[in-house]
Amino acid sequence: MRIQTQTAAALAALVTLPWFLMGCAQTTTAGDSSASELPVVLVIGATGRTGGPILAALGDDYRIRALVRDLDRARAQLPATVTLFRGDVRQPETLASAFEGTQFVVSAVGARFVGQGELDDPMNTPELVDYEGVKHLAGAARTAGVKHFVLVSAMGVTRSGGSHDRMANIMHWKLKGENALRTSGVPYTIVRPGGLTDEAGGTFGTLVAQGDNQGPGQTNRIDVARICVRALTDPAARNVTLEVVKDASQPVVPSDGDVFSGLKADVP
Ligand SMILES: NC(=O)c1ccc[n+]([C@@H]2O[C@H](COP(=O)([O-])OP(=O)(O)OC[C@H]3O[C@@H](n4cnc5c(N)ncnc54)[C@H](OP(=O)(O)O)[C@@H]3O)[C@@H](O)[C@H]2O)c1
Repeated sequence: MRIQTQTAAALAALVTLPWFLMGCAQTTTAGDSSASELPVVLVIGATGRTGGPILAALGDDYRIRALVRDLDRARAQLPATVTLFRGDVRQPETLASAFEGTQFVVSAVGARFVGQGELDDPMNTPELVDYEGVKHLAGAARTAGVKHFVLVSAMGVTRSGGSHDRMANIMHWKLKGENALRTSGVPYTIVRPGGLTDEAGGTFGTLVAQGDNQGPGQTNRIDVARICVRALTDPAARNVTLEVVKDASQPVVPSDGDVFSGLKADVP
């Protein structure tokens, strides 16, 4: 079911912006004629901890859609300017309406872990979400003719036997999800962050690398979100896989500078 954004609700949201939109101009409203000319981006995982920074990084350059599992919870959490579609990546039949008319996709979907690495829902596993769910998203994107799909994956997916493999084999399934997107024919960028933190964005050096042979490391969700949004429209990010990890010897992620030049596209 699609929730149409109401201008009144959008104005209300301008008064009570959630934390992740503080300081970010949010001028798009359903009644704004110029807004209808903006490209449409669909965010998967918008209610998650990286989803918020992705919405903030998209700013008012796009008409933003979000595919969410719980409309009421998402409506309470996300800006009223975001058009919500109910869907679950495990169920491909729930995806089509959100993708219809969508030009760009950013997915930060992922099975969620709690405590010492237990799944928060034993029916929402990395196999079903990070692999099959991403495969369903890639198929829906192909059908809809999406121009570019950015997937948040994880650093270390090509290396098995690490501690993360004990978390329901998450790295194994995330790599299979990556490959489903690569072979879908949809133009893509795969962003593999290190361990994600909620530190402020733009505050430390960030290594953007390829080859998945970096040591363990962390990065923050805000910088990752900014890189994802930049990848949507930068031709140098087309069909590229990259790792993102904190590195004091590197520059801070620039807001408008170059991130992708020098990176190689994946070999099909
Ligand atoms: N955490 C880390 O240190 C780390 C490190 C490297 C890579 N990553 C990857 O980075 C991405 C973002 O991580 P995060 O920690 O920010 O994520 P998160 O906070 O756990 O958010 C996950 C998002 O996925 C959604 N989701 C889960 N199952 C779904 C389903 N079946 N259908 C539709 N939506 C579903 C959740 O929606 P609900 O609100 O409905 O649950 C939520 O919006 C994930 O792909 C993760 O694997 C994480």
